[in-house]
Amino acid sequence: MSATKIKSSNESKMKNFCHNLPKIELHAHLNGSLSCQTLTKLFNMKHARDTNHENFDVEKCNSLTEIFDVFSLAYSVTETPEAVYTATYDTIKEFYEDNVIYLELRSTPRACEKMTKKEYILAITQAIKDCKKSNLSIKVKLLISVNRKQGFKAAKENIRLAIEMKQEHDCIVGIDLSGDPTKGEAFIELLHIARTAGLKIAAHCAEVPNEVESMDIIKFKPDRLGHGTCIHPLSNGSEELYETFLSSKIPVELCLSSNIMCKTVPTYDAHHFKYLYESKHPLCICTDDKGVFNTTLSKELILVMKYFNLSENDLIKLMKSTASYAFASCIEKNELIEIIDGFSKSAENTVKVTKNFK
Ligand code: IMP
Ligand code: ZN
Repeated sequence: MSATKIKSSNESKMKNFCHNLPKIELHAHLNGSLSCQTLTKLFNMKHARDTNHENFDVEKCNSLTEIFDVFSLAYSVTETPEAVYTATYDTIKEFYEDNVIYLELRSTPRACEKMTKKEYILAITQAIKDCKKSNLSIKVKLLISVNRKQGFKAAKENIRLAIEMKQEHDCIVGIDLSGDPTKGEAFIELLHIARTAGLKIAAHCAEVPNEVESMDIIKFKPDRLGHGTCIHPLSNGSEELYETFLSSKIPVELCLSSNIMCKTVPTYDAHHFKYLYESKHPLCICTDDKGVFNTTLSKELILVMKYFNLSENDLIKLMKSTASYAFASCIEKNELIEIIDGFSKSAENTVKVTKNFK
C-alpha cells in the first residue's frame, strides 16, 4: 500500500473512532453552536429573507472583539421563545447525531421586545424536556451564563433567575461566566452567592493576559475553568499563576479550534493542551461554539489525536475522566462511564475477532 493510502486509511479510522466514541461535551454556548442549517431555518422562521447567513464568517475576523460581533447574527434570529426553542432543540439533536451522550449547554438569558429573560430560559428548558420525551439518548443540562460585558445588574439578575428556576427545572445546574474577556469583570461576589445556593460554577479564565483577575478566579475555585490560555509563563501568564493553577486541580475545558480561530493561541502544536496533558492536569476537550468555528466534538478529538499523538485508548480514558467533571449526579456520571466502558469493550471485541481470523 502506498504511503498516501496508508495515511488516508489511518485518517478514516481516526474519524470513525472519534465519531463512534460516546462523547461528553461540557462547554457549548447555545447561540455560538447554531449550525448554518439551524440559522437558515431560523432566518426563514423570521421571514428575513434579505439577511444572508454568509455573514457568519469567522475567518474574516481579525480580533477577539470582532469574533464577539459574530454572535449578533445569531441573536437577530433568536428573539422569540419559539426561535430559542428551535435553536435549542436542533442544537441538541446535532450533538446527539455526533454521538454526544451528555451535553452541558450554556446560554445568556436575553430579554427583547417579544421575550423576557425568564421566557428565554423556559424555552430552553422546554426544548431539553422535549428532546428527552422524543427519546434522543442524550442527557442535557443547562448553565445560565453571566456576560461580563453586561454589567453587575444583569449578572445579578441572571444568577437570581438561575437560583429561582432551578427549583422547578432540575436541568439547570450551574452558572457560566463568559463574554468578551477584554471587557467588564468577573463578579466573584455574585458567583459566591450562586455557589451557596447550590449551583456549580464554570468560569472562563485567562483567555487573554490578565494575571490579577485570573489569580482571583483560580483562588475562588470554580468547579471548572474555561480555556486557561494565558496562565503559563510562556503564554503571558506567570510562574506563580501556573503553580497556583496546577495545585488547584480545577478541571479545565479546552477548545482547540476556538483558540486558533480567535487567535489567542498561534498554532495547534503550541496549544496549552500539550503541557497540561503532560502535567496530568484534569482537562476535557470541548467545542465552545461549534457553529461559529465550524466544528464538532468529534473533529476536536481528531485534532487532539493528530497534533498530540493520543491513541484510541487515551481518548477513552479522557472521555471517562470528562464524565467525572460533569455537573451531574454520581448515578448519572456512573451511567456515562458504563456507556463508555461498553464501547471500549466492544472495540476490544472487534480486535479479538480480527486476531481470531488471522
Ligand atoms: P449565548 O450565551 O447562548 O448567547 O452564546 C453566545 C455568547 O457566549 C457570546 O455572546 C459570548 O458572551 C459567549 N461566548 C461564546 N464564546 C465565548 C468565548 O470563547 N469566550 C467568552 N465568551 C464566549
Ligand atoms: Zn466559551
